[in-house]
Amino acid sequence: MPTADELKQMAALAALEKIEGGMKLGLGSGSTANHFVKSLGARVRDGLDIIGVPTSERTAQLAKAEGIRLTTLDEVPALDLTVDGADELDEKLRLIKGGGGALLREKIVAAASRRMIVIADDSKLVPHLGAFPLPIEVNLFGLGATRAAIEAAAYRFGQPATLTRRLAADGSPFVTDGGHAIIDASFGLIRDPEGLSLALSAIPGVVEHGLFIGLATSAAIATPDGVRWLHA
Ligand code: A5P
Repeated sequence: MPTADELKQMAALAALEKIEGGMKLGLGSGSTANHFVKSLGARVRDGLDIIGVPTSERTAQLAKAEGIRLTTLDEVPALDLTVDGADELDEKLRLIKGGGGALLREKIVAAASRRMIVIADDSKLVPHLGAFPLPIEVNLFGLGATRAAIEAAAYRFGQPATLTRRLAADGSPFVTDGGHAIIDASFGLIRDPEGLSLALSAIPGVVEHGLFIGLATSAAIATPDGVRWLHA
């Protein structure tokens, strides 16, 4: 029986097969994306010519250490493909992301990409999104008011949520690469991901949220029996 980490590596290798020379790539964040970046680095050292836009400072560091040429969306505003992990996904390729706190850059990079492949072990594929608390990136200014607005939006939606401000490992408030806070919203089950996404995006202090809808074009789901591909 493969371990969860071996499944993540399998998914990463399946996505790697889709990479061709000359591609402009979005490089995701998290443990599954790290497997992809490391395997991509090995191909680059063997002569594969690609350029990448990292979705977090941590991925930038890893990619540099792997010898991957990096750029920005200012220099290259349109990418061919982003490969990234997810905290949850459903069969319609709707995702919850942001468990690692990189959701803002991840969403900007995915939206700038023609295609997005999600790589995940099969524990991430769920019938309904929401067991994983939804990360919501919020501006520090007016945090209390933004929190109240999120609660009110959730309530209007008939989906009361438990909100928790994310803390770093040392117990201090977690700060994203963009200098914002994260509120993790536990819904249990999100009945209308599209509607909730719009309602959260309409709150001024919400910088971004972890519902990724209409962005993933396919997913490589690693199971003990092999990799299963899903397509939008
Ligand atoms: C990072 O902010 C997240 O969106 C990650 O992509 C997500 O948390 C998946 O991470 P793992 O691959 O580590 O499970």
